[in-house]
Amino acid sequence: MQNSTRCIDMAQILSILRAIAGQIDFRAVISAVSAEIRDLLPHDHLDVALLNSDRTLVVAYETGLHTEWDASTTATKPVVASPIRDLFTGVVDHIVTDDAQTDARFHFPGAFSQPIFAAGLHSRLHVPLKVEGRVCGALSFSTQKTAAYRPGDVNNAQIVADILSSYFFSLQQSELVKQGELQKRETEARAEGLRVGALRLTEELENARQAIGMDLHDQTLADLTRIARNLKRLVNKPTLRGSELQLVQKDVEHCVRELRVIIDNAKPSVLQFFGFCEAVEALLERSVRSATSPLSYRLCDDGGSGVDDLPANTVVALYRIVQEAINNTVRHANASTIEVRLQRAGERIHIVVEDDGSGLPKGGARRTGGLGNIRTRASLIQAELSATAGPGGKGTRLEIALPASSPAHQSQGEKQA
Ligand SMILES: Nc1ncnc2c1ncn2[C@@H]1O[C@H](COP(=O)(O)OP(=O)(O)O)[C@@H](O)[C@H]1O
Ligand SMILES: [Mg+2]
Repeated sequence: MQNSTRCIDMAQILSILRAIAGQIDFRAVISAVSAEIRDLLPHDHLDVALLNSDRTLVVAYETGLHTEWDASTTATKPVVASPIRDLFTGVVDHIVTDDAQTDARFHFPGAFSQPIFAAGLHSRLHVPLKVEGRVCGALSFSTQKTAAYRPGDVNNAQIVADILSSYFFSLQQSELVKQGELQKRETEARAEGLRVGALRLTEELENARQAIGMDLHDQTLADLTRIARNLKRLVNKPTLRGSELQLVQKDVEHCVRELRVIIDNAKPSVLQFFGFCEAVEALLERSVRSATSPLSYRLCDDGGSGVDDLPANTVVALYRIVQEAINNTVRHANASTIEVRLQRAGERIHIVVEDDGSGLPKGGARRTGGLGNIRTRASLIQAELSATAGPGGKGTRLEIALPASSPAHQSQGEKQA
């Protein structure tokens, strides 16, 4: 039994204040306090537990024996599961026990009291931390001995708690501000990343528009000028032969075909009329044919992925992502096969583009270029994207996952033609 009738004196209060002055970390404060009061209130475990702002969760910082109560193991716990919940809710103004292992107050259905046994704790003493009369946490002393604390110790513990309460409360508030600031910065960084990506995409679209203009000028306009010239010659001819007209007809047909290619590049009509899978197949066929080394493709779709039920904007974005991934395989991978899979897993759609080529460069993909655009397009439709090595660490695997139907997608409104 210890000498617990001794009352804390002014010198001890001052030395506690000196020890915690300037400490800006919960554990640093609690361990400084532990060292100062070890003789006055012996303990093997000392912890401070703090309530969150809506008083439903509690987070604890400890010193001495390590337990699962500590924030390093359990970030927060519901107050209702705390063995000392009655202290947090103001039902009692302190708790003292000779043996916490047998004391029924600590053990109720759902109580997080397992650390009492794990750390071999017996005597425990708990007092509230209060700010402006409201309980904001608790200071808890525990030892592995039984019957170590006396009622007189409660007074000393409460004085220590009163010294610490405003200090802990301020630390907690500044921690909250810091976290809020960090979250704000992360959100700003994400928004900025998206803004820059969207800007790049707009530039890309502008370039595409210019390319269409150039194609129309160099190809279609040149074709039509030639056809018009030929027609003019024929108009002025007194006699007209069928073969001469046939030449012009062939020229017109060629011009129409070229125009179709230009239009199809600008807006994939097969996507609009036949759906995502057909459009990707057409893309794969064309890409494989244009590859400089032998490349075969596989397209796996059981028809139940639900891609075509997504809003048209989302489907076009997914098509552009797959298009760039396929282009990259053809241009960079030196692969022998490329596989595209459309899958449904519960409420999520997964699209995988996989090749068995040389793999992405070490050090990750650049933020700009085609891969950057893939990232931006995925963000804009709120899809998750992963770019990794393929099976067995070979090749490249790009996976896009997104909800089959989410409010974000529905809110994009009517399907566009
Ligand atoms: N499937 C792939 N296999 C191997 N390397 C790839 C693949 N996809 C992309 N890369 C590499 O990543 C780089 C960046 O790709 P990307 O951003 O699309 O730009 P770009 O295609 O214009 O070079 C490529 O230059 C290439 O080196
Ligand atoms: Mg590319």
